[in-house]
Amino acid sequence: MVELKPVTLSDRQRLYDWRIDPSVDRWMSDAAAPDWDLHNYWFDNLLSDPDVQGWVIYFAHEPVGFLSLRGLQGPNQRAEWGWYVASAVARGRGVGRAAQVLGLEIAFVDYGLERVWAQVLADNDAALRAQGAAGFRREGYLRNHLFKAGSFHDVVILGVLANEWNENRERLISNLVRTGLLER
Ligand SMILES: CC(C)(COP(=O)(O)OP(=O)(O)OC[C@H]1O[C@@H](n2cnc3c(N)ncnc32)[C@H](O)[C@@H]1OP(=O)(O)O)[C@@H](O)C(=O)NCCC(=O)NCCS
Repeated sequence: MVELKPVTLSDRQRLYDWRIDPSVDRWMSDAAAPDWDLHNYWFDNLLSDPDVQGWVIYFAHEPVGFLSLRGLQGPNQRAEWGWYVASAVARGRGVGRAAQVLGLEIAFVDYGLERVWAQVLADNDAALRAQGAAGFRREGYLRNHLFKAGSFHDVVILGVLANEWNENRERLISNLVRTGLLER
């Protein structure tokens, strides 16, 4: 079963280890993996700034990844989506899809947002596929938008609106409950 739990102080080291892992860093839209100081700055902000909220993704009661919403306090009722499943063992088993449903429920039901959007590297097939399945639409394509690891990368802008989530949520939740990845 997949669960989201709010990030706590005890997650500081775990989130650093995950974020700098090459299999996660490769797909992040920051230019480079943070050093420890920058991570601490980011982590303290995550815990203190109401504009951003973060959750640890748990699978079978083990922490396996991270999900965040940024921009919650702005006037536009939208947030930027960030996520990864850090544990290689947990990837490709539906954990991301289940965590995504939980995160979108928080975004649209708990926070009452109008829109959730994301920047995804154009060659990130797993993220594009997973997010497309939850109703994210492709809204833009930014050529050579990111300079990372010595070269430029194209970035896709994805977005999903509250009414679109409302149309999809019941079907997605039911499918994940049926496969045991979520509980009602
Ligand atoms: C993107 C990510 C969060 C998806 O989580 P996950 O648990 O691996 O994905 P799921 O098992 O839920 O699968 C979701 C979809 O992606 C597909 N997928 C998974 N791994 C894939 C891969 N390596 N290549 C292509 N498609 C892949 C699955 O087939 C599934 O599609 P389907 O529902 O049509 O079958 C995870 O792969 C990850 O953390 N990747 C590294 C970091 C990252 O890219 N973060 C997102 C930055 S925008």
